[in-house]
Amino acid sequence: MPSRLAVLVSGRGSNLQAIIEHFDNLARERVAKVVLVASNRAESPALIRAATASIDIAQFNAADDGSELLGLLRKFRIDLVVLAGYLKRIQPAVINEYAGRIVNIHPALLPAFGGEGMYGARVHEAVIASGAKETGVTVHLVDDEYDRGPIVAQWRVPVNQGDTAESLAARVLAVEHVVYPRAVEMVAILQQIESKRTD
Ligand code: GRF
Repeated sequence: MPSRLAVLVSGRGSNLQAIIEHFDNLARERVAKVVLVASNRAESPALIRAATASIDIAQFNAADDGSELLGLLRKFRIDLVVLAGYLKRIQPAVINEYAGRIVNIHPALLPAFGGEGMYGARVHEAVIASGAKETGVTVHLVDDEYDRGPIVAQWRVPVNQGDTAESLAARVLAVEHVVYPRAVEMVAILQQIESKRTD
């Protein structure tokens, strides 16, 4: 049985798209499939991508104690929660119930250029301002501190002379689309092995 993924989004949803396409392309051999896309923002363009792909969508209150999100995750029997441009903090109740089963992607080489408030263009502006010659992408498990959970995968991306936050963001995003679906696949496989072992 493929692992059941929920993808949480707040914005554009290009990583969501890459994940949907990755698991669709694997067809019968796929180890996971996206069964729910949920957002704290009803107007998130990512929800349109999900609906176009005939995936269930939902909106939830991110300012409660986590009950609404947990209710959705239980209802859809979610195995793995994938954050893809989701901008709110995950409530402790959700982190407890889904410990080791929530992944996030960050557009830099954590632990550098991470933490509260470091998202979107700010990350790439900070990288350029620091004079770093390389940046990258990091996929990590989510715990109760922003951008601090165990790292699952990293990939380096060069910073070129004359890069703007926009040009750098585009180079990093193209790598995210390759790395994230594969890292999610690996986490899903490990999770399936682990749950068979403890059955
Ligand atoms: C990505 O850069 C991701 O690393 C960060 O938020 C952005 C989301 O982009 N967490 P998209 O919504 O997947 O297009």
